[in-house]
Amino acid sequence: MKYLSVLSVICGVIATKAYAECWSEKLGYPCCSYSKNVLFEDNDGQWSVENDNWCGIPKGTSSNCWAEKLGYPCCSSSKDVLFEDSDGQWSVENDNWCGIPKSSTPSTTITKTTTTITSKAPTSTYNPNVPPKPALTNLDSIRDPAANCDISDSIKGDSLAKAAPFRMGVGLNGSDKSSSTVLSKKMCQLIAYQFNSVTYSNLMKAEHMLDKTASQNNAKNGNDMPVLKFDTIIDGLEFCQKNNVKMRGHTLVWHTQTPSWFFRTNFQDNGSFVNASKMEKRMESYIKQMLEFIQYYYPGVVDVWDVVNEAVEITNGSYDSSTGWNTRTKFDGGDNLWYKTMGADYVFKAFRFARKYADKNVKLIYNDYNTFMSQKTNAISNLIKKLKAENLVDGVGLQSYLNADWPNRNDYKSAIQKFSSLGVEIQITELTIKTDGSGNKFNNQATHYQQVFQIYKDLKKSGVNITSVTVFGLQDGYLFYSNDSTDTRLWDHNLKKKPVYNAIMKVLKS
Ligand SMILES: *[C@@H]1O[C@H](CO)[C@@H](O)[C@H](O)[C@H]1NC(C)=O
Ligand SMILES: *[C@@H]1O[C@H](CO)[C@@H](O)[C@H](O)[C@H]1NC(C)=O
Ligand SMILES: *[C@@H]1O[C@H](CO)[C@@H](O)[C@H](O)[C@H]1NC(C)=O
Ligand SMILES: *[C@@H]1O[C@H](CO)[C@@H](O)[C@H](O)[C@H]1NC(C)=O
Ligand SMILES: *[C@@H]1O[C@H](CO)[C@@H](O)[C@H](O)[C@H]1NC(C)=O
Ligand SMILES: *[C@@H]1O[C@H](CO)[C@@H](O)[C@H](O)[C@H]1NC(C)=O
Repeated sequence: MKYLSVLSVICGVIATKAYAECWSEKLGYPCCSYSKNVLFEDNDGQWSVENDNWCGIPKGTSSNCWAEKLGYPCCSSSKDVLFEDSDGQWSVENDNWCGIPKSSTPSTTITKTTTTITSKAPTSTYNPNVPPKPALTNLDSIRDPAANCDISDSIKGDSLAKAAPFRMGVGLNGSDKSSSTVLSKKMCQLIAYQFNSVTYSNLMKAEHMLDKTASQNNAKNGNDMPVLKFDTIIDGLEFCQKNNVKMRGHTLVWHTQTPSWFFRTNFQDNGSFVNASKMEKRMESYIKQMLEFIQYYYPGVVDVWDVVNEAVEITNGSYDSSTGWNTRTKFDGGDNLWYKTMGADYVFKAFRFARKYADKNVKLIYNDYNTFMSQKTNAISNLIKKLKAENLVDGVGLQSYLNADWPNRNDYKSAIQKFSSLGVEIQITELTIKTDGSGNKFNNQATHYQQVFQIYKDLKKSGVNITSVTVFGLQDGYLFYSNDSTDTRLWDHNLKKKPVYNAIMKVLKS
């Protein structure tokens, strides 16, 4: 990143304002040829940036060009609104997105001290299928809660990713954008060294991706399709691209963390549920927008998707057995709104749309929990066979929330073998092993992780195609939260390796 200092502008010169038009040339700066966005103002005049250099805005011509802060020019003449999101209204000029200036809002004035401006992100060529990229977070502006952690022994020597015969992934916590793991430089550094895959535990789910206001505006304008926003995942995508780390897309279609208004007329909280054909169109639109955005700006980064999450249920009264694979109808007493609006077909429709819009080498996964419970293993196997018959699925994702003594590890192992026998890849997607609460809990936990990784290694050797193992979270007592007491992770609260780390490494290197 480049920075410009205006200190010299402030201290340097006592200007004689001979030229009203291009006053800044006198001070050693060009006048702005197009930008009218006020980034700094002093006694000399209003300043903006062009070509990574300060320029003076000719008097009387400034306007509020919000788009420049996001790395896009403001529109000089076009007023056709082609896209609208929470940043503002977008149009296109010279084959690139531009922001339509909000003429009525006052211009931004930056306090008159030394100031720095992050150089503009490179602008991207306009593609009518994808919206403009949202602004990246400037990590220098974030207080890193891990700043004082000494991670030196985790960024040299052993690396899980290098030692493992499958991808090694880690879950990225964060309940909103501001508590996202990728905003910590320290955590990022550690992850880039130890892992080659990440999964957002929350921030890629529908409740974060759907822009309610923009969707409602769409409906008002007669276009009853949702609008997506990408601000919660942009920093993670950027991190992955820069560090050659893959991201597991998680998840396209799930019954929770998907707002109820998404299923309702005009995206209103009190609207009636839309019919199956309308919901199918919305599902297609959602999947299409998600995949096209990511594949356009970050090609190859997300090469595997959890297309449908947890669509199989075995609790009595909460599933439809007529399908042969126990389709979930309810959860926690509430309705599965995908099932309610589209019927059991929702799962197949989701996979068809994902296949339609995914790049050729992108893998499609069905992901679920308690996959080792025999009733569930059987039901999921039946679903996989049906999906496989249409070439819609490439793998089964086993979340794998395990206890010290449950499930029986042989049941776990044979479930994996059973799925594998259907001819699909196996991915361990959310591995978490709880402690046993004893005085020796962390050493015991290390043994449990070691045994489970031994199972993965043995299975892999025997021909089971385990392609990735993701541990779901980086550290105990996640530092972006004040009171987290999780103790299932490989690193402790200070980002020091726990016994678990060394136990896993021992298996991987054996
Ligand atoms: C981190 O994310 C995982 C996955 O969603 C979740 O199980 C866990 O509770 C989260 N931890 C915290 C402290 O939010
Ligand atoms: C839904 O709520 C909005 C205000 O929140 C109201 O204007 C509208 O009439 C309501 N619609 C129905 C169908 O109740
Ligand atoms: C579904 O609802 C839409 C309006 O949202 C309507 O145009 C369409 O005819 C309905 N389809 C069926 C099969 O009822
Ligand atoms: C569902 O009900 C049947 C009896 O109707 C019982 O045998 C079975 O254990 C129940 N399953 C669960 C998961 O509760
Ligand atoms: C396992 O899956 C990977 C990724 O799809 C594939 O490249 C590889 O050929 C598969 N291996 C086996 C043994 O099927
Ligand atoms: C953490 O603190 C929040 C309030 O800051 C509280 O709502 C939550 O219950 C606490 N969680 C735990 C596990 O203590």
